[in-house]
Amino acid sequence: TRPLKVALLGCGVVGSEVARIMTTHADDLAARIGAPVELAGVAVRRPSKVREGIDPSLVTTDATALVKRGDLDVVVEVIGGIEPARTLITTAFEHGASVVSANKALLAQDGAALHAAAGEHDKDLYYEAAVAGAIPLIRPLRESLAGDKVNRVLGIVNGTTNFILDKMDSTGAGYQEALDEATALGYAEADPTADVEGFDAAAKAAILAGIAFHTRVRLDDVYREGMTEVTAADFASAKEMGCTIKLLAICERAEDGESVSARVHPAMIPLSHPLASVRGAYNAVFVESDASGQLMFYGPGAGGAPTASAVLGDIVAVCRNRLSGSTGPGESSYAALPVSGMGDV
Ligand code: HSE
Repeated sequence: TRPLKVALLGCGVVGSEVARIMTTHADDLAARIGAPVELAGVAVRRPSKVREGIDPSLVTTDATALVKRGDLDVVVEVIGGIEPARTLITTAFEHGASVVSANKALLAQDGAALHAAAGEHDKDLYYEAAVAGAIPLIRPLRESLAGDKVNRVLGIVNGTTNFILDKMDSTGAGYQEALDEATALGYAEADPTADVEGFDAAAKAAILAGIAFHTRVRLDDVYREGMTEVTAADFASAKEMGCTIKLLAICERAEDGESVSARVHPAMIPLSHPLASVRGAYNAVFVESDASGQLMFYGPGAGGAPTASAVLGDIVAVCRNRLSGSTGPGESSYAALPVSGMGDV
C-alpha cells in the first residue's frame, strides 16, 4: 500500500510532539491505518527553532508551496490564529489534501466556511484538538451523540485559567501572583489575554455549541467575561459559602427548543460539585442530553503531548478515510436557531 503523506504547518509545542509520536509510533500507526504514514514536510517561520529529531531536509519556511504540492494526504495546521492559517487550509483542500486543525479561534470564527470548502473538494476537516486538548469531545458530539438530543454542554475548557484559579483557591494568592506562577511554569503565555479574558474559552464554547445543537454559533455570539477581576477576597467569601470559583463555559438549548445560548464567565461552584475538584490545568465538561442523561469528560486540556494525542487521533481517522475513499462527518445539517449570549439567567 502506498504511504500516506502528512505535512505539518507549525512545529511548536504541539507540532513537535505530533512529529515525535509519528516517528516513535510509526509501526503502530501503520498497523492501525493499514498503510505507513510519512512526514512529508514541516513548515515553520524560524527553522533554527525546530527541535532535534526532525529531518532538516523536511523543513521549509514556504508553507504555501508545501500545501500546493499536490501529493499530500493530510495537512496538519497547528499554527493558530486566523491568517495565514485560513488561507493555507483552503489552499490545502484545493490541492487535494484533507485537514486536521487545532485552531479554535479560526474554527469559532470561520468554521462554516471551512466546512463548506472541505465539502466542495470532498475532503475532511477534523479538529478534535481545538477543544479541551486530549479530551474527546468533538467526535462524541459529532458522532456518538448524533442520534440523541443534546441540551446542555457545561464545564471548564481552559487549563491556564483553571490553574490560576486553583492556585488562588488553594494558597490564598491574589490573581497577579497566581498568574506569575502560571507564566513561570509555562502554562500561561507571555501575553495571557486570550486565556484570562475568556476569548479562548469563548471560542471553544462557540465550537461546542455549534456541534452540540446543530446550529451555527460564532465567537461574537458568545457572552464573555474573563477572570482577571476575581480576587483573593472573592475566594474567601466563596469558601465561607462552601463554594469555589471556576471559569465556566455554558452552552444551552432554550427549553422551548427555539434558541440556544453560549456564555463564559467566572461562577461559584459548590465544593460538592465534581467541577470543584478539577485541579491544575485540567479540563472537565458535562454533556446533558435527552437519552444519555449526564456525561462527564475529564482530562488534560492543554499541553504538547495531550493536544498531540488528539491531533494523532484525527490523522488516523483521516488516513483511514483516504484509504477507503470516503470522508467523515462534515458539518451537521443545521437549523438556523437564534443564538444569544446569555440565555435565561
Ligand atoms: N491556552 C489553552 C488553555 C490551551 O489554557 O486551555 C488549550 O487550548
